Amino acid sequence: MEGRGMEKKLSSAAKSFSPSPIQQLSLLAQRCNAINLAEGFPDFPAPLHIKNAAVSAINSDFNQYRHVQGICEQLAKIVKQMHGLDVDPLSDIAICCGQTEAFAAAVFAVIDKGDEVVIFDPSYETYEASIIIAGGVPVYVALDPPHWTLDPDKFIKSITTRTKAVVLNSPHNPTGKVFSKNELEIIAGVCCTKDCLAITDEVYERIIFDSEKHISLASLPGMQERTIITSSLSKTFSVTGWRVGWAIAPPFIAAAIRNIHVKITDSAPAPFQEAALTALSSPLEYFESLRKEYEFKRDYVVQLLGGIGFQILFKPKGSFFLFAKLPENCLLSDIEYVEELIKQAGVVAVPGCGFFHANFSGENSSEAVNSYHKKYIRFAFCKSNDTLAAAARKLGKPVDDSGCLKIN
Ligand SMILES: Cc1ncc(COP(=O)(O)O)c(C=O)c1O
Repeated sequence: MEGRGMEKKLSSAAKSFSPSPIQQLSLLAQRCNAINLAEGFPDFPAPLHIKNAAVSAINSDFNQYRHVQGICEQLAKIVKQMHGLDVDPLSDIAICCGQTEAFAAAVFAVIDKGDEVVIFDPSYETYEASIIIAGGVPVYVALDPPHWTLDPDKFIKSITTRTKAVVLNSPHNPTGKVFSKNELEIIAGVCCTKDCLAITDEVYERIIFDSEKHISLASLPGMQERTIITSSLSKTFSVTGWRVGWAIAPPFIAAAIRNIHVKITDSAPAPFQEAALTALSSPLEYFESLRKEYEFKRDYVVQLLGGIGFQILFKPKGSFFLFAKLPENCLLSDIEYVEELIKQAGVVAVPGCGFFHANFSGENSSEAVNSYHKKYIRFAFCKSNDTLAAAARKLGKPVDDSGCLKIN
């Protein structure tokens, strides 16, 4: 259908979301039938006990609009156990359609036109969109490579009288960083003294390696009253398509989020909310075995990619992503490298540039070409061991003199 001239009708927010080069790479990957280490969802089955719970909920006719209060009670217990926080299941929780909607509803609940929202860079892509739709202004603070450390001075300088909120994603996509206690204290200190809110994204809270511990920012002194926690079933239970997530916030903010959620989607999918009750009541062994399996996969891809010349300057401490730096002396950009990976090795991953937002000069200047923003590739290891082994066979090629994959 011809829609000439109709682009003028688009909102300025919609016009600002242009398709990225990554979408073209996805098409190329599909044409080449490449092994997918790009997307952040598992290619292995979800746990049987929760699939059965969903099937049984459908068969029991939980198929209409529904708000399952039991999830809030279970979440309140978990947050108490994990973080020592007292949360009222009746007033402090909003069940939404995944973390994505919980985050958007949280932003719509608290962000007005012109409010600034600080985001650490690199970052997961969806935060910016909700902030822009709400009329807010994302302000990026670069984390310092190679360990993606928070520079307190840069952070403090980013705060103005218009700063309304700080977004914190830990464990972090794309780097696998887990913010340290010290970094969290810095963020909490700034939020409290500058009277800012925090919106956290904790979807990888259970996928954490070695001796790391996930600390929720809300558990730091003075923070529960100014933090909106968002998370979901998606990653912990390998059910990214179920779309069940939540926001946990002080009562008046949680009420606003619930209201917005009702206005835009009414309710999360009813049978999957029922199954969420079973999922969230899983025994501790479930979470420990999930953690161990991902730790094994993390070690596997670290060894694999390190073995073919990638610079593994930071071993992920959480999440299921490895943000690997291109081989030393490699003259290709991240996008060019991924194109070669697809064409020559039949493996697709995500060029890192899509996760960086902080300004860096001139697209084509040598500074831009050599900038670290164009030197990282994100590999997702939330894949079956068979998929990882198949990728290893395809990638098991020696590197050439310039440190790039040897091209036959
Ligand atoms: C950091 C982060 N937050 C949120 C999501 C999406 O969560 P949900 O499926 O609950 O919307 C993802 C998915 O990749 C993610 O990486």
